[in-house]
Amino acid sequence: MSSIVLFGPPGAGKGTQAAAIMEKTGLPQVSTGDMLRLALSNRTELGLEAKGYMEAGKLVPDELILSLIQERLKEDDAAGGVLFDGFPRTIPQAESLSEITELSMVISIEVPDDNIIERIVGRRMDSETGDIYHIKFKPAPSEIENRLVQRKDDTEETVRSRLDAYHSQTATLADYYADMGILKKVDGDREIIEVTNSIFNLLV
Ligand code: AP5
Repeated sequence: MSSIVLFGPPGAGKGTQAAAIMEKTGLPQVSTGDMLRLALSNRTELGLEAKGYMEAGKLVPDELILSLIQERLKEDDAAGGVLFDGFPRTIPQAESLSEITELSMVISIEVPDDNIIERIVGRRMDSETGDIYHIKFKPAPSEIENRLVQRKDDTEETVRSRLDAYHSQTATLADYYADMGILKKVDGDREIIEVTNSIFNLLV
């Protein structure tokens, strides 16, 4: 199977839907955001270089992202295709990706900007499993409440920068993939399960 890209603004629900798609397709999730956060918590050179950009809500330079992706795609589990989450985010990233792997589909999860801040500021993660919750839209079970953490870049101020970066540098990729005939739009402004069902309909 070739690879799939999950595309959309911060807080669109890419990580949430990736978990369901992985379960259905068996494709491994390749999230550049998760990889950068891991690199940072391991204090690797790349992670430390990326830190300032991430905390400011700016895009990490393409060459750092592409070196992460090139290494990840060499792993055995990537041989049958992967589910990209949050990558590519610039035209140079998309052009480099097209040289190294084939894409079957780019799923664009569409959510109006007005909803993004509430989604991001209310997001909580399970520090053990990485599962994604929301204080209002997807409350965590009470027995794991003490494990919930908030991402450092999930502040209102940083989200505004991330949205700016999305509109100025990333949104144009929708046209790029529409021209290639592989862009599929999904209305992400609905219940999580309804979004999942629409995505599953695209996968059959
Ligand atoms: P990254 O980690 O990729 O962050 P992001 O794109 O901003 O996306 P998010 O993880 O914030 O949101 P999501 O769409 O996954 O939403 P989620 O499912 O969690 O990147 C972080 C940083 O790393 C970037 O700012 C940049 O610096 C750097 N970076 C990463 N990749 C890069 C690249 N390729 N190039 C350059 N720099 C890069 O959902 C959000 C919340 O909403 C959750 O609480 C969830 O429960 C809730 N929710 C989900 N769906 C719904 C729904 N339908 N209704 C109500 N609530 C919902």
